[in-house]
Amino acid sequence: MPELQDPTPTKKRGLKGAIESKQLSRRTFDNYRTFIKDHYDGLAGKLTSFTGFVTGHETLAGRLIRPSAFDVRGCKRILDAGCGNGRYSKFLLRWADPDAFLTSFDLSERMLKRSRRRLKSPRVTHVAADLTRLPYPDAYFDAVVCGWVLEHLPDPRPGLKELARVMQSGGKLLLLVTEDTLTGSMCSRMWHCRTYNREELKRVCADCGLQWVRPYYFTRLHAWFRLGGIIAEFRRQ
Ligand SMILES: C[S@@+](CC[C@H](N)C(=O)[O-])C[C@H]1O[C@@H](n2cnc3c(N)ncnc32)[C@H](O)[C@@H]1O
Repeated sequence: MPELQDPTPTKKRGLKGAIESKQLSRRTFDNYRTFIKDHYDGLAGKLTSFTGFVTGHETLAGRLIRPSAFDVRGCKRILDAGCGNGRYSKFLLRWADPDAFLTSFDLSERMLKRSRRRLKSPRVTHVAADLTRLPYPDAYFDAVVCGWVLEHLPDPRPGLKELARVMQSGGKLLLLVTEDTLTGSMCSRMWHCRTYNREELKRVCADCGLQWVRPYYFTRLHAWFRLGGIIAEFRRQ
């Protein structure tokens, strides 16, 4: 496979290329960000609970965040980056130590509201923020979950560098990203995002100080059929 130096989305050919969303390449980043914020503020964001239920993601999230998978026991400052309606925060709260502190941020105020409504917990702080400009000090968090957000950046490096900056050395990251498969292209169309090649993502994360530890699949079926996207645990170097 040729070296990919530039992780911005390249024009894909064939069916996947025809299906994949063109929103990121058609707009400037500022314009796209406003478009995405409006998208999640509106009906699409409202429907995430329903779609999560239909696709099984509401339940499948619990297979990733648990002691035998992404284990947050012992972590004291946990970040849910691009928390959406709080799907992953819910499981983080379930397994985190009672004295652990959970911070959730999202670009969309409405998604934050949906998350607050779901979690109803004084242990979670919700903040409106952009993944490429995080309002946290260096080396602040010991565990981070970033689910299905990186695909909303044309270039993943500013977001990954920010995540690496706010993580303690040795801290753990669970990253979930839409993959460049046929089903990934269809998701990209629906959610107006890009897709990632697995090897390319591994490489760009390493460049940003995040070392690939292990991949996860929701179930064996997902692993066999390469479904469910790229899900992996990383360690802050
Ligand atoms: C597909 S949803 C995923 C939500 C949640 N992580 C989950 O897995 O259920 C993507 C979320 O990312 C947020 N988002 C998109 N671009 C963002 C950015 N640049 N900074 C912060 N949040 C962003 C959206 O508002 C939306 O809530």
